[in-house]
Amino acid sequence: MTVPSPNVAAGPAVQVDGVSKSFGPKDNQTQALSGVRFGADHGELHLVVGPSGCGKTTLLSIIAGTLRSDAGDIRVLGQSLSAFSDRQLTEFRGAHIGFIFQQFNLIPTLSLVENVSIPLLLQGVRRREAEDRAGALLARVGLGDRRHRNPLELSGGQQQRVAIARALVHEPQLILCDEPTSALDSRTGHDIMDLLAGGARAGGRCVILVTHDPRTYGFADRITRMEDGRVEEVLSGAAVQQFAAQPH
Ligand SMILES: Nc1ncnc2c1ncn2[C@@H]1O[C@H](COP(=O)(O)OP(=O)(O)OP(=O)(O)O)[C@@H](O)[C@H]1O
Ligand SMILES: [Mg+2]
Repeated sequence: MTVPSPNVAAGPAVQVDGVSKSFGPKDNQTQALSGVRFGADHGELHLVVGPSGCGKTTLLSIIAGTLRSDAGDIRVLGQSLSAFSDRQLTEFRGAHIGFIFQQFNLIPTLSLVENVSIPLLLQGVRRREAEDRAGALLARVGLGDRRHRNPLELSGGQQQRVAIARALVHEPQLILCDEPTSALDSRTGHDIMDLLAGGARAGGRCVILVTHDPRTYGFADRITRMEDGRVEEVLSGAAVQQFAAQPH
């Protein structure tokens, strides 16, 4: 089976329309998302914010294709996810989407360079080339001299930089991040936001970042504010900076 190709010429990077999702048995359901409409563009760092339980991770999982919605259309990189089989979804995700989570999910028995190589090895790149590319990216995030170390020897911020290198190494068009800075000190969180904003703007990628962390707000091109499974408002331009300047 061939990996479905992204169709990046076809409009926004992500377009979600009328998406609903509930969890639990019929007589005791939690409505996590209700008719959500959401869009994000290539070259954009787009934040999704809102109180705990409002549906942010659920929305991100639906965009990633790790969770199927109950209703609605989801187009990612010009492809309709509902048209994919589970196997095609897995292949599409592996080839074209990078993930960064709050818990860095590094494999402790592998060195840094081996961890960062994984997405390339899964795509069939030979080990030697994969490790060369992974090493170059580790150098870019300031960890080139530690490439053969073990993740457990690193601080939280350093581990998150390795996780970012792993998410970027196969040059995905879409990067999805769930609370990537909340475990980090301000300085490291700032560096990581710079890296992600640069990946979006200079690399023409789409970065969608779910966060509770007010320190990240000023980096955004747009902010989607969610509440209770719905989109409340989408901020752009000066409204982003006003929102970032408010006390949170
Ligand atoms: N697998 C699941 N089974 C049952 N309920 C779930 C499941 N995943 C999410 N929910 C419920 O759906 C709602 C939305 O959850 P979600 O994880 O998307 O919120 P969130 O905005 O990411 O919250 P947080 O900021 O705390 O991470 C919550 O009420 C949650 O309890
Ligand atoms: Mg969440």
